[in-house]
Amino acid sequence: MKTPAMPMLDRVLFTEDEIRASLLEVAARISDRYKDGNLKLIGVLKGSVFFLTALARELTIPVKIDFLAISSFSNRSGAPGVVRIAKDLDESIEGEDVLLVEDIVDTGFTARYLLQTLAGRGPNSIALCTMLDRSARRIVPLQIDFRCFEIPDRFVIGCGLDYKQLYRNLNFIGVLKPDQA
Ligand code: IMP
Ligand code: MG
Repeated sequence: MKTPAMPMLDRVLFTEDEIRASLLEVAARISDRYKDGNLKLIGVLKGSVFFLTALARELTIPVKIDFLAISSFSNRSGAPGVVRIAKDLDESIEGEDVLLVEDIVDTGFTARYLLQTLAGRGPNSIALCTMLDRSARRIVPLQIDFRCFEIPDRFVIGCGLDYKQLYRNLNFIGVLKPDQA
C-alpha cells in the first residue's frame, strides 16, 4: 500500500527507509546478543507480524518463530490492564531464549502480562523487543531490551498497527488526525 488516499492521516512519523535503517541496527544487535543462543521470536498477533517478519529476515543467526494472540482492553477503550491469551503458542519455550516482539509498548500492561506468563514456562531467557515505545503513557515499569523508536503521545498506524483493523499494511508509520483516535 504505497500512496493511499488517507484524509485521516495527519503526518508521516517514520518513512519506510527510516524504519528499515532502525530495524537493521536492532537486527544486528539481536544477532550479536544471541549468537551462541537458542533464539525464538514470539510475535503478538496481529500487530507485530509485519515488524517481526521484517526483523527476522535481517537476523544472521538461526531462529524459531511462534505467535500468540491476545484480547486486550488495556488501551483507550475500557478498563486498563485486562489482558488474556486468545490463541496460545504452538510449541513449548522451555530452555529457549525467548524474544517477545511487539509492535508498540504503550501502557505496558500487555507486555508485562506476556513476559510474566512466558517466564513461568521455563525459558532459558526472556527479553522484549518493540518497534515503537510510547513511554509517556507507561503505567507499568518495564525493561525494553531492543527498540526501534520512541514516539510521542499520538495514535499511530502502519507497519502492523491498525485503526479499527485498517492500515496495518502501510509501509510507513503515520499519525492519525486528533479527532480520529
Ligand atoms: P499496552 O498494553 O497499553 O502497552 O498496549 C499495547 C497494545 O495496544 C499494542 O500491542 C497495540 O496493539 C495497541 N496500541 C497501543 N497504541 C496503539 C497505537 O497508537 N496504534 C495502534 N495500536 C496501538
Ligand atoms: Mg499489539
